[in-house]
Amino acid sequence: MYFTKAKYGSPVKGNMKTAIYPGSFDPVTYGHLDIINRAAKLFDKVIVLVSINPAKPSCFFTLEERIAFIKKSVTAQPNIEIDSSDGLLVDYFRKKEADVIIKGLRAMSDFEAEFQMALVNKDLCHKAETVFLAADAASTFLSSSMVKQIAMFGGDVSAFIPHAILREVQEKLEKKRLEITGK
Ligand code: PNS
Repeated sequence: MYFTKAKYGSPVKGNMKTAIYPGSFDPVTYGHLDIINRAAKLFDKVIVLVSINPAKPSCFFTLEERIAFIKKSVTAQPNIEIDSSDGLLVDYFRKKEADVIIKGLRAMSDFEAEFQMALVNKDLCHKAETVFLAADAASTFLSSSMVKQIAMFGGDVSAFIPHAILREVQEKLEKKRLEITGK
């Protein structure tokens, strides 16, 4: 059970560990899915949180599209939830009484920004521990930005994003290319 009654009657949290995996997911890739599935084996509950990154003010896909892509891509598992937030990650973390923030690390180039975010979150909320999972070797070069660029110019991204969202992602990016180049 999630909550157990303590000896003196106040409810205390049981041993259940909740992890939040936040990101822009613009769009979700096999790299993200690998982290989600591995986190689901390590924690009792994983919340995949589509969040706003102010450093990326114009995500290509809308929040609703990004959530729908994840829902179509993640194999239903009782301990995986998908949600969104337009506020501070630590506020959501507190609201959910979470234990851990999960981040995937692909290469050293990810490290500095991720380390900074982990420290900021810990400073804002002492309980907010960040756990880094090393990306699968096959995903170390993979990013949503690369996927968007390749798909926009008609390249094959079927090895990078789930089949369930492939057509939708390709169609929207090809439309964008038409807008930009006129051909
Ligand atoms: O996939 P991304 O873009 O690298 O994810 C970054 C994200 C969305 C997790 C980060 O920008 C974030 O936590 N946004 C929510 C706002 C927040 O809490 N910012 C302070 C932490 S640096």
